[in-house]
Amino acid sequence: MTQERKAILTFNDGTPPIELPVLSGTLGPDVIDIRALSKHGFFTYDPGFQSTGSCRSSITYIDGDAGQLFYRGYPIEQLAEHSDFLEVCYLLLYGELPTGPQKFEFDSMVKQHTMVHDQMNRFFTGFRRDAHPMAIMVGVVGALSAFYHDSLDISNPHHREVSAFRLLAKVPTIAAMCHKYNVGEPFMYPQNRLDYVGNFLYMMFATPCGHYEPNPVLARALERIMILHADHEQNASTSTVRLAGSSGSNPFACIASGIACLWGPAHGGANEAVLAMLEEIGDESRIGQYIDRAKRKDDSFRLMGFGHRVYKNMDPRADIMRRTCHEVLDELGLHDDPLFKLALKLEKIALEDDYFIEKKLYPNVDFYSGIVLRAMGIPTNMFTVIFALSRTIGWVAQWHEMIGDPENKIGRPRQLYQGARQRDYVPLDKR
Ligand code: SDX
Repeated sequence: MTQERKAILTFNDGTPPIELPVLSGTLGPDVIDIRALSKHGFFTYDPGFQSTGSCRSSITYIDGDAGQLFYRGYPIEQLAEHSDFLEVCYLLLYGELPTGPQKFEFDSMVKQHTMVHDQMNRFFTGFRRDAHPMAIMVGVVGALSAFYHDSLDISNPHHREVSAFRLLAKVPTIAAMCHKYNVGEPFMYPQNRLDYVGNFLYMMFATPCGHYEPNPVLARALERIMILHADHEQNASTSTVRLAGSSGSNPFACIASGIACLWGPAHGGANEAVLAMLEEIGDESRIGQYIDRAKRKDDSFRLMGFGHRVYKNMDPRADIMRRTCHEVLDELGLHDDPLFKLALKLEKIALEDDYFIEKKLYPNVDFYSGIVLRAMGIPTNMFTVIFALSRTIGWVAQWHEMIGDPENKIGRPRQLYQGARQRDYVPLDKR
């Protein structure tokens, strides 16, 4: 019988030591189970959760030093090469790759739910035409809970599954509607003759005036981008979804909270910010001054698309994204795309710079995705929307896992209080 591993917390002021269990997973670092600390009158302090594991999970594994990313044990490189997005959705949700019949049934179920209630169209007219599509997404996805009262009992496994299908199927439809509303074109209804990604491209770019068929090379590239973005362990937006779900909020509200968090430029908004940065740099001759700005403490400028909380080596998704960039630009005859060439040069200079080497700052998934999406004709303000529709399955799978976790409790962190000590009220005429 191997001895249970423990951490002993000792104090230098005579406070009795505290024994804490050390837990091991199948992969990755062990964790110190600190749940008993509050009984001893202590909390831990970890702003940004840099040293905190928030839950047990079996969905996604990341090794930041080795630059590894597995969905249910399958390396992202193999899934990006051989799988399709709905198969990856099945894998993330159910834990295994589907058989042929299982995949056919799953794909068919998704297709049954791609339309949204026709009254949802009216929400859009309440927004300014130039509203950012992420603002619309937060509102309209959250509003789905106003239409599906029949499947909001999260304790009911059937309700959870129906809600998962509805979200997976309807978020691309809503995303495309955001784009159509922005550009003043009519909404295009889903076409069930097309596959998931082809249908999204159809709803984005088709018009009632003519026939539209997705370019197969671009559709495959977008499929790969969506596979790369499908899940990523306990990132900020996934943790937001889990926290919202821990209070019992319905899945539509939880996913809307994830979309809101993803929008930030430090997270999913980075792909849009990378393009704005490249356009601001404009020319290779100006790269040096921006690299210098990124290093300065007194300058808030960050090299967008660089750095990561977990990856202290190359983000494996960035490598695949760079290759996808080459493919798409070659297919479109844009291999001399000035922004792509600028990005390659910026990446080369940064990777050879001592500051970035010392701080282990490498390109992340967002560095190249914006260039690919822009080349495909997707407007910059839709980049994070594409990230959100790809990550919806990750959020749903993580939410689903949390609801089924026997250790699941409402998330309620504490604090280190530094405010005023108790004092008495002073009447206005005495102040
Ligand atoms: C995503 O968590 C996930 O998994 C997210 C994601 C997913 O799939 O869900 O992978 C998607 O969000 C990718 C990240 C996209 N964001 C960006 O590209 C924005 C630019 N990157 C930075 O904002 C930053 O690198 C973060 C937010 C990504 C990570 O921030 P951390 O982990 O809090 O790191 P940090 O800010 O503490 O940085 C450590 C040091 C700091 O210097 P010191 O204070 O130690 O002197 O590195 C510096 C930072 O100033 N640094 C950068 C930098 N990123 C970090 N300096 C210049 N440029 C950068 N991009």
